[in-house]
Amino acid sequence: MDLFLKYKVSKSVVAHSKKVRKIALEVAKELEENGLGVDLKLVGKGALLHDIGRSMTHGLEHGYIGGRILRKEGEGEEVARIAERHVLGGISKEEAGRMGMPAKNFIPETLEEKIICYADKLSDKDKIERIERLLGRNAAYERMVKLIQEVDAMRGRVQELNVYAVLRDSKGRILVMKRREPKVWEFPGGGVEWGESPEKAVRREVEEETGLKIKNMKLLCTTSKVYKKGKLDKHSVYIVFEGKGEGKVKFGMEHSIAMWVDLKKIRKLELGWNVEPIVEFLKVEK
Ligand SMILES: [Fe+2]
Repeated sequence: MDLFLKYKVSKSVVAHSKKVRKIALEVAKELEENGLGVDLKLVGKGALLHDIGRSMTHGLEHGYIGGRILRKEGEGEEVARIAERHVLGGISKEEAGRMGMPAKNFIPETLEEKIICYADKLSDKDKIERIERLLGRNAAYERMVKLIQEVDAMRGRVQELNVYAVLRDSKGRILVMKRREPKVWEFPGGGVEWGESPEKAVRREVEEETGLKIKNMKLLCTTSKVYKKGKLDKHSVYIVFEGKGEGKVKFGMEHSIAMWVDLKKIRKLELGWNVEPIVEFLKVEK
């Protein structure tokens, strides 16, 4: 608190810093419960002081300047680094050089640094949008998004993107496959890999799971669900395509049976919970 007075930190920055401390400590406690080693005292102190550089400037260099102040005031290297590395999702050596700061990496590395950077981004619901408007979706923006995802994952919150394909044969029947475990019926599909387009992902998954090619592919619907899986809180988003399945079905290890059925039959099958909402979107094809 003395430092806030000494550096005439504005009321709004003090209020923001307290909010960031509250969020950061909540997150830190969650991570500790998940078995990660976190220095809670450092998180509290670092969060409170992370924006001290705003007493000099509100530019992106306020983190670096804050680090300088904290070193001078004898707050310790760890706290100084938290301030230096909290801006955006961290600032790379090249970006720092372009911004007129010393050309070195200001990217959060320790868990405490990541937590405060993350809590700062979450402290205000419009912050991410403002940063997007400021930067566009450049490398610094992407780094920030990845940092948020990384800490979310450590909190046990995982968002997952999946694709499904509703494939029809020449008679308009739909391909369903029975999983080996759990023994429920579903459509071919799976997870979108990093950087992969959903269209590419669905063609790849369909080929891997059924040996079929998709013709006349179009978007059918999207669905999404939040659920618990063990210790994780998962949010799965499904992008569902439909099209003609071409070729002969050759299914792999994941499934035990595959068959072409009409809509009436699908409604009677025991479907996976993630497939059920898709059925509402299906129409009888004439
Ligand atoms: Fe800041």
